[in-house]
Amino acid sequence: MHSNSCCVLFLVCIYIVFNVIHAQPVPGPTKILLSCGNQKGGNDADGRKWEPDSKYLVNADKSVESKAETQDSSLPSDVPYMTARIFNAETSYKFSVNGSSRIFLRLHFYPSPYPNLNISNSYFSVKAGGVTLLNNFSAATTALALSQAYIIKEYTLAPSDLNDLSLTFKPSDKYSSSFAFVNGIEVIETPEMFDDNTGMVGFAGGDSSVTVEATKASMETMYRLNVGGQFIPPTNDSAGLMRSWYDDTAYIFGASSGVTNKANTTIRVGGLAVILAPLDVYSTARTMGPDPNINKNYNLTWVFEVDANFTYLVRFHFCDYLYQKVNQRVFEIFINNQTASDTLDVIALAEGANQPMSKDFAVHVNGKQDNNEIWVALHPNVGVKPEFYDAMMNGLEIFKLGDGKANLAGPNPELSDLMRKQQEHNNKKFAEGKSYTSAIIGGAAGGAAAFGIAAAIIFVSQNRKRRHPGNHSMSSWLPLHGHSQTSSTTISGRSHGSTAISSDAASNCRYFSLAEIKQATKNFDESNVIGVGGFGKVYKGVIDGDTKVAIKRSNPSSEQGVNEFQTEIEMLSQLRHRHLVSLIGFCEEGNEMALIYDYMGKGTLREHLYNKNKVTLSWKQRLEICIGAAKGLHYLHTGAKYTIIHRDVKTTNILVDDKWVAKVSDFGLSKTGPNMNQGHVSTVVKGSFGYLDPEYFRRQQLTEKSDVYSFGVVLFEVLCARPALNPSLPKEQVSLADHAMRCQRNGTLEEIIDPHLKGKVKPECLKKFAETAEKCLSDHGTDRPSMGDVLWNIECMLQLESDSSGSQHSRVPSGSNEGSVQNMDHISLMAMHRNTLSLGSEHDVTEQSEDNPDDIFSQIVSQKGR
Ligand SMILES: *[C@@H]1O[C@H](CO)[C@@H](O)[C@H](O)[C@H]1NC(C)=O
Ligand SMILES: *[C@@H]1O[C@H](CO)[C@@H](O)[C@H](O)[C@H]1NC(C)=O
Repeated sequence: MHSNSCCVLFLVCIYIVFNVIHAQPVPGPTKILLSCGNQKGGNDADGRKWEPDSKYLVNADKSVESKAETQDSSLPSDVPYMTARIFNAETSYKFSVNGSSRIFLRLHFYPSPYPNLNISNSYFSVKAGGVTLLNNFSAATTALALSQAYIIKEYTLAPSDLNDLSLTFKPSDKYSSSFAFVNGIEVIETPEMFDDNTGMVGFAGGDSSVTVEATKASMETMYRLNVGGQFIPPTNDSAGLMRSWYDDTAYIFGASSGVTNKANTTIRVGGLAVILAPLDVYSTARTMGPDPNINKNYNLTWVFEVDANFTYLVRFHFCDYLYQKVNQRVFEIFINNQTASDTLDVIALAEGANQPMSKDFAVHVNGKQDNNEIWVALHPNVGVKPEFYDAMMNGLEIFKLGDGKANLAGPNPELSDLMRKQQEHNNKKFAEGKSYTSAIIGGAAGGAAAFGIAAAIIFVSQNRKRRHPGNHSMSSWLPLHGHSQTSSTTISGRSHGSTAISSDAASNCRYFSLAEIKQATKNFDESNVIGVGGFGKVYKGVIDGDTKVAIKRSNPSSEQGVNEFQTEIEMLSQLRHRHLVSLIGFCEEGNEMALIYDYMGKGTLREHLYNKNKVTLSWKQRLEICIGAAKGLHYLHTGAKYTIIHRDVKTTNILVDDKWVAKVSDFGLSKTGPNMNQGHVSTVVKGSFGYLDPEYFRRQQLTEKSDVYSFGVVLFEVLCARPALNPSLPKEQVSLADHAMRCQRNGTLEEIIDPHLKGKVKPECLKKFAETAEKCLSDHGTDRPSMGDVLWNIECMLQLESDSSGSQHSRVPSGSNEGSVQNMDHISLMAMHRNTLSLGSEHDVTEQSEDNPDDIFSQIVSQKGR
């Protein structure tokens, strides 16, 4: 039944169970966090305490403790990922639990190299109680497919009547050298939170004709979304259940994504709703939008990839805080083209406004018909004549239900050819006794995302196909969250072609044949190599007789991969700016992929800062280069159609051409936010050590302020002429960001600035520069200036310096022959400033009022006047 009574009854049951559990003084609900293979245990980055696992092992002699050989930068914390327990034979843990409780079980896997073990050989099964959770599972393959460094699998186990929960790891016997491993285990008791009469979608006669006894089902969490809201980390979950709630934008189908909104009334979260979801979930929502005619003509739709031939429980979380009355907003819910509910009226069901509620449906996903997908669509019910034609959702969870044989295990994701090559490459390295990086794109890609539901990277082409309903050739998977944002967001909302590179991009840049590239680089002659990156080697070359170019050639077993290659083409071909490195074209032939750029004669900013063999840059040159780079970044953030976040701002990505014009390069990690109307994008953490925004790292939320942080590090690097990370220095000085900030606070910054600059920088200019850099490094993104403000400040500094140095140069000193162009830039910059002021997100506005660039400017102007 879709009736209130059913829902209320179910909540009451929860309430009772919850209270019963809480009424028992001893023992409290079990909550165990194990850091496996770790003898001491420890705290994670969120301050949660993880204990050693050995005392829970039944047969400890069949396993060994091990330490990961490499630490991926995307790991949220050392504990529990950097240690593992390795099982060479079937081994069990035993936990004492309350047999009448439901249990959340989370398994953390970090498939990195471990000493003397080839992680690609690890295939194993995991059982909990009588339920098979994983079978022939390869964490390495799954991580590779997800492009994540680590995987979290979450299960909720039905009450078992047993007071012992056994958790068994068994290496697969298909391969002789196979082993099992695990890095972290969470066992958390919860009150029952499911219903015995969950209606099955797609059976005539409505929801009550076929039901699922969800209370008896063990489940795997596939998706958990804070719809219309932001990522909620485990430490902010309700009732101590430590669930993660992800942003839903990545799953929205098509260009019509509705609008997001936030409650400004008080949500009444009663005793029971507390368990179901945190307040944050209920106080944000996605609705269809203000226009009834538009709403009538589209479905607000989300698409999820799942394993075929399982039944799924789809749980909707609702709370209407915008309307007050019944029949103001009534809508239909479709799941896989079938009506799940035709008259959902949240206020009627919840018996009031501002009242949270949830509604569950079950759906069987048939491998043949449903294309391994769950489609959830909302549409206003026009028939019942509601006051507004609209629909809404606050949260969504999708759980896989165990099949008849108590099995939850699905197949490993299928790898693309490129990924398979990556895996072969790793195997080869292992056979040669060399360490290899874990199979992660970019080496630093990461897994904020996830219950590692089987999910694979989506190449742009596949993603396009996926977006066509009814295409049955799709074999890849959607990662749990923030799916391949590096590629997919660049194309969302555009027409979809079928080749890898969009026609937009293709028409904006030139296609080169492999033969042309070979000729340009003298068959990739080593003497032409000018750099090496995660992507492969960079060659200098000559095309069209005399045009110098830089050619970035992808290594077929590249760790950066096709994804970033395509992102870069898509991004760069749209972007033309004096301070961005221009993409001239690309080559894609067989296994070869290459990108062709303008040649930047003077190389990277970094090499001019502390390469002993080069002439040191003057202070003004440094300011000019910073200004150029800031302009490039400011353009990315505000000047293009979408906000573009570079994600990897550092001195090696700021290049200088023959005329000393600085240009920002390397958009392989860039990300667009569709208008960024939520102010951030949840994402896997990518970027470079030493430059990485700690807030982004902590919360996996990317905003343009993450680039501002990295740029702050660049500013200090320019001032101090030392690398962002220098491990050879004493510990407290290793990180430039930390060291410079400490010196700045203690007033000792002058001691660490580049000796070449001593006495050559005006004190007020130095002060301004250090203050600007310091602001960029603020802990919270909202406290950091915008790129436009940073640019403004540095321009003021340059002006300050130039004014003192006589009148040989009007504004721009040595090297740069920008002349009037520069002046024009200056005017347009002011115009852009006004734009930022009016268009900026909320925090931009408040920040501007505190730190008005015009004020800063007038301060400097008046200083001059004195
Ligand atoms: C919304 O989805 C349902 C179920 O798939 C479909 O029947 C209906 O035509 C869709 N409506 C619109 C306006 O696309
Ligand atoms: C799902 O079941 C159908 C028929 O029952 C079978 O042909 C198909 O291979 C199954 N798919 C998967 C992924 O197991």
